[in-house]
Amino acid sequence: MKVLVTGGAGYIGSHTLLQLLREQHEVLVFDNFSNSSPEALRRVKQLANADFEVCEGNIQDAGRLNEAFGHFKPDAVIHFAGLKAVGESAEKPLDYYAQNVSGSIELLQAMQRHDCRRLVFSSSATVYGEAKYLPYDEHHPLQPANPYGRTKYFVEEIIRDWAAAWQDASAVVLRYFNPVGADASGRIGEDPNGIPNNLVPYIAQVAVGRLQHLGVFGADYDTRDGTGERDYIHVEDLARAHLAAIAFSSTSKGCEAINVGTGRSATVIEMVKAFEQASGRAVPYKIEPRRSGDVARSLAAVDKAERLLGWTAKLDVADMCKTTWNWQSANPNGYRQE
Ligand code: NAD
Ligand code: UD1
Repeated sequence: MKVLVTGGAGYIGSHTLLQLLREQHEVLVFDNFSNSSPEALRRVKQLANADFEVCEGNIQDAGRLNEAFGHFKPDAVIHFAGLKAVGESAEKPLDYYAQNVSGSIELLQAMQRHDCRRLVFSSSATVYGEAKYLPYDEHHPLQPANPYGRTKYFVEEIIRDWAAAWQDASAVVLRYFNPVGADASGRIGEDPNGIPNNLVPYIAQVAVGRLQHLGVFGADYDTRDGTGERDYIHVEDLARAHLAAIAFSSTSKGCEAINVGTGRSATVIEMVKAFEQASGRAVPYKIEPRRSGDVARSLAAVDKAERLLGWTAKLDVADMCKTTWNWQSANPNGYRQE
């Protein structure tokens, strides 16, 4: 199948690309490299021993999208491109609405112009907001607590209307829980700009000696050990969910939102211990005040993914830490060669 992948050079995109190529799909990557490096694509080509086209462009640029669609004629689109930093989204909400919401509308319009009716979209468990109950199932009320989360919620609704209005259109909205880990090769992985916002990249940089210690944001939550509890999902399992979603979209119609998690959780301290075990390095930490906007616990209900996609997560926290460490220790500066 011909799959156009927006944001394919990014963290989740590059891991998904690798699996698409290994499954013999034909791929075109559409990315402006605003948060990624062409080096990631070079390494994916090497790992898959396969080539693909790259179109450098912004999803807000209708002309560039037209060129890519007209030339490649995709059967389906996987849409990863967008901005994703929660804190930054509160400082620059209009950038987030322009890139994530307007950019997604441009993409849907290009799909319509070029008669491409199948879409898989990267959403986030952040659309649920404060838990009314756990685990979050797909019927849980949607009340995102920040502009980033609202862009995901708005785009979900836009996609739902688009799929309802267009005969035979099929959209799968994947709500990711906490993606972590890296390809087992250690050649591709998560390469955040500057100081990481997220837990596992931060721990990895402490372990490799780039940062001195981890700040644990709150030890007084109502959880097993007082620290925040999350449903971490290995990026390789997550990538596999996209291939299952693409296959599902060839027989389904309309729009389905589906959680992608493991249904199991780990606390901050449990992740620190698991990472120490996997890396053989100490990860010193200090308890700090809670981070504003954080919830105590997050956990996915995973039965819908199993029922509709035939997909379940296979890898555990030890695999997540081990592969993150492989990547971080082999590439202490990520894709940059310093
Ligand atoms: P990433 O930043 O590594 O990848 C995003 C890619 O999109 C990058 O290559 C970037 O250069 C590109 N891009 C950004 N804006 C663009 C634009 N306007 N036009 C073209 N390309 C653009 O992020 P990721 O972690 O791989 O996340 C992928 C998607 O999954 C995002 O939509 C994100 O919101 C969503 N998501 C991520 C997480 C997570 O924890 N990583 C969790 C839930 C949802
Ligand atoms: C964050 C985003 C969420 C996004 C997700 C992507 C916020 C409020 N939420 O979720 O919208 O979809 O990333 O994976 O930013 N922690 C520390 N020290 C750190 C970093 C994190 O103790 O230096 C703790 C947090 O308090 C939390 C856990 O680790 O309990 C996980 O944090 P993080 O990786 O940032 O993910 P989320 O907050 O779940």
